[in-house]
Amino acid sequence: MKKTDALLNEQVNHELYSAYLYLAMAAYFHDRGLKGFGKWFEVQAKEELEHAMKFYNHLLEKGVRVELKEIARPKSEWSSPKEAVKEALEHEKKVTSLIYNIGKTAMEEGEFGTWQFLGWFYEEQIEEEDIFRDLLSALEMVGEDGTGLYLLDKELGQRGEE
Ligand code: FEO
Repeated sequence: MKKTDALLNEQVNHELYSAYLYLAMAAYFHDRGLKGFGKWFEVQAKEELEHAMKFYNHLLEKGVRVELKEIARPKSEWSSPKEAVKEALEHEKKVTSLIYNIGKTAMEEGEFGTWQFLGWFYEEQIEEEDIFRDLLSALEMVGEDGTGLYLLDKELGQRGEE
C-alpha cells in the first residue's frame, strides 16, 4: 500500500476521533447547563463524521481497502468551558498538520488525484481553526461574567446544521 493511502486510512480514524471528542465536549457542556454550547458541539461532531466519510469514500474510489482501527476514548472533563475550547483549537491545529502531511506525501508519491481531493480540506481546516479561535476570544471577553456566558450560550444554540 502506498504511504499516501495508509495515511488516508489513518485519517478516517482521526476524523472519527474528532467526532468522538466533540461529542464528549457536548456532553460536558450539557452537564453544566450550557445547552447552546452542547448543541453547537453536537453539530461539530456531525461535521467530523462527514469528514471521515469523505476520506472513506475517496479510498473506496481509489480501490483501496479501508481498514478501521480502534477509536481512542476521549476526555470527559475540563476545568472550564474556556479550557475545553482551547483544547478543541489545539486539536484542530493537529488535524491541519496531519492533513498537510498527507498532501506532502501525496505530492512526493505522485498521487495528484489525492492531492487535489485534499484541496477542500486545506480550506476547511483554515475555517475550522478560525471558528474555534473566535469562540475562544468570545469566552475570554466574557470571562467570569455569568450574563455574558448565558448570552453566548443562547447565540451558539442557533447554529444550524450546515
Ligand atoms: Fe475534520 Fe475539524 O476537522
